[in-house]
Amino acid sequence: MKILVTGGLGFIGSHTAVALQQKGHEVYIIDNLSNSSLQVLEGITKITISSPNFTKLDLRNKEAVSAYFNVHSDIDGVIHFAASKAVGESVQNPLLYYENNLNTLTYILQELSKMENANFIFSSSCTVYGQADELPITENAPVKPAESPYGNTKQIGEEIIRDTTYINSNIKAIALRYFNPIGAHPSAEIGELPIGVPQNLIPFITQTAAGHREILSVFGNDYPTEDGTCIRDYIHVMDLAEAHVVAIERLLNRKNQSNFEIFNLGTGKGNSVLEVIETFEKVTQTKLAYQIANRREGDVIEAYANTDKANQVLGWKAKLSLAEALESAWKWQQKIDQNKYPNKK
Ligand code: WQD
Repeated sequence: MKILVTGGLGFIGSHTAVALQQKGHEVYIIDNLSNSSLQVLEGITKITISSPNFTKLDLRNKEAVSAYFNVHSDIDGVIHFAASKAVGESVQNPLLYYENNLNTLTYILQELSKMENANFIFSSSCTVYGQADELPITENAPVKPAESPYGNTKQIGEEIIRDTTYINSNIKAIALRYFNPIGAHPSAEIGELPIGVPQNLIPFITQTAAGHREILSVFGNDYPTEDGTCIRDYIHVMDLAEAHVVAIERLLNRKNQSNFEIFNLGTGKGNSVLEVIETFEKVTQTKLAYQIANRREGDVIEAYANTDKANQVLGWKAKLSLAEALESAWKWQQKIDQNKYPNKK
């Protein structure tokens, strides 16, 4: 089937594009290259030996979005990744986030509402739960007031989709609430490409281990957890990509039980920051330089998924371990360094 992947040159989008192609789908990618590069398209092509159809397009341009859908009126499904996703940046520049994450969503949904049948997957996040009262977190956990404009755009985005699918029964949608996506494709042809100083833990770890960062700061070890550091549900991006294929095929095959479904995507297991460091050191046989620093504002103490609904209703379960994800992230970091500094030994 013909699947449009917006933000398809991004971290999760590119891995999903590979998984879609490997299931025989025709992949169309839109990306404005604000947080990715055409090298990613080469990486996808190297893995699947076929290049997705790519259009550089900024989804904030309503007319351009409409023109695209007029040309590609035979799209069978849309997986929507394109969005800004840095929590800290969203606090500094909220209007950029509301425009880039929400205006664009309405433009796409307006195009889908014109279709006879539209299938839509929305990239959401466990950030909508804030600090959940109960762990592991189920999809019925209350959505808490967002800790950042970024998190708010995910919450509002889901409400926009809920209201739209309620009145437009031709649109069927699934929101996938990711926990912490990490790792890279085993080929090391694609992976996470943070621009500037990484905000997320794993790229900061791999860049520290590769000598590009002096030391990793662990943001607090005085939390009420076993070792005092925060706990997260780290899910391999390959498992996450597979979940997107399962979700869009659920809609294409009309298996959905309502017009708007929500699923948590995690491993169901929580790991602390120190456990991640320890696992990284073990799988890479390196010693990581780190120090304990102050807590980071906005961090929740503990978040990991109850994955029963995704396992039983969606028919998907994460298969890969934290160690495998960290190993793939390290292999990807080494590949980046070789390409960037080919003569570096
Ligand atoms: C994980 C843990 C930090 C960096 C965010 C978004 C979420 C999703 C993933 C987009 C925390 C600690 C981190 C560092 C550290 N974003 N840490 N030193 O904050 O759980 O989730 O990114 O899709 O929506 O909310 O991920 O990787 O930033 O942090 O100690 O240099 O690592 O305190 O406990 P987070 P993260």
